[in-house]
Amino acid sequence: MNMQLDDNRRLRHFLSLEGLGYDALDRLLNRASEFSAEIGAPAVTTDAFRGRTVANLFFEPSTRTRASFELAARRLGCNVLNLDLNVSSTSKGETVLDTARTIAAMNVDALVVRHGDAGTQEMLARELPHVAILNAGEAHLNHPTQGLLDAMTIRQHFPDFRKLHIAIVGDIRHSRVARSAAQAFSQLGCGEIHLVAPRELQPDDEIPGELFTDMDAGVRDCDVVMMLRIQKERMQAGNIPDKKAYFEAFGLDARRLEFARPNALVMHPGPMNRGTEISDEVADGSQSVIWQQVNNGVAVRMAVLAELLENRN
Ligand code: NCD
Repeated sequence: MNMQLDDNRRLRHFLSLEGLGYDALDRLLNRASEFSAEIGAPAVTTDAFRGRTVANLFFEPSTRTRASFELAARRLGCNVLNLDLNVSSTSKGETVLDTARTIAAMNVDALVVRHGDAGTQEMLARELPHVAILNAGEAHLNHPTQGLLDAMTIRQHFPDFRKLHIAIVGDIRHSRVARSAAQAFSQLGCGEIHLVAPRELQPDDEIPGELFTDMDAGVRDCDVVMMLRIQKERMQAGNIPDKKAYFEAFGLDARRLEFARPNALVMHPGPMNRGTEISDEVADGSQSVIWQQVNNGVAVRMAVLAELLENRN
């Protein structure tokens, strides 16, 4: 059962891209494009959701995702409540539920939740069905608005996913970004997904795509090279790779980018570790769409929030 959908297959919560299907992804991406304005242009805003309240409950540190959700809600006309709950992870399920229940009791319409424990957002959706739960990052498993914004960015350059070869490179094992992105790309019909990582950072679960341990082979002829941050906070101290050795084997620099197609897009979800997974010249180069990803993030979050708030009527 996909518990984010109601009996009429309408979106009630936004927990994962898994199983959402082409039509829902396409609908959300089209709606997001209506909310998008180029970098430097005035933002698209509406009063359509005036009087609604969105609360951001972040149990893990976050700058860009929290800011992006906050702007998205404000640009829809909502009231926004921000709670940084980044305390030591001794707080167990019950405490999280009580925190969420407390906020939900104040006639809040949507809870945007980031948490390091798998299953937190699903538990909240089950326990608090009267409020929409949006997953803003769940352990190493789900980051569905990130997957959507990645798909949106690629679609702006390459409208037909069926022809595309996309490489996702780096710490795939610990990356909720890689999982959500691969789920989006595969449901949009992506031709090939290459999951490129050193053996110790390969996933031990099923992610759509083909595994590569050699970066040159993994990015060869790809239309998109999506780099990931090394998630040191999810590794044991002894397992953190040496920066220089890692960059030599799996970093993206201009020489390596030449293995990809000539107009290949360079992506990164941020925050970037320059010199570890990506060089300055590539991050700041003409093929980089990294700031466009950030720009699209607000638009996709507006689209998801709008749909969830409408479905509560
Ligand atoms: C990502 C995250 O938190 O999962 N960042 C983000 O959403 N801005 C990726 C990362 O932390 O590497």
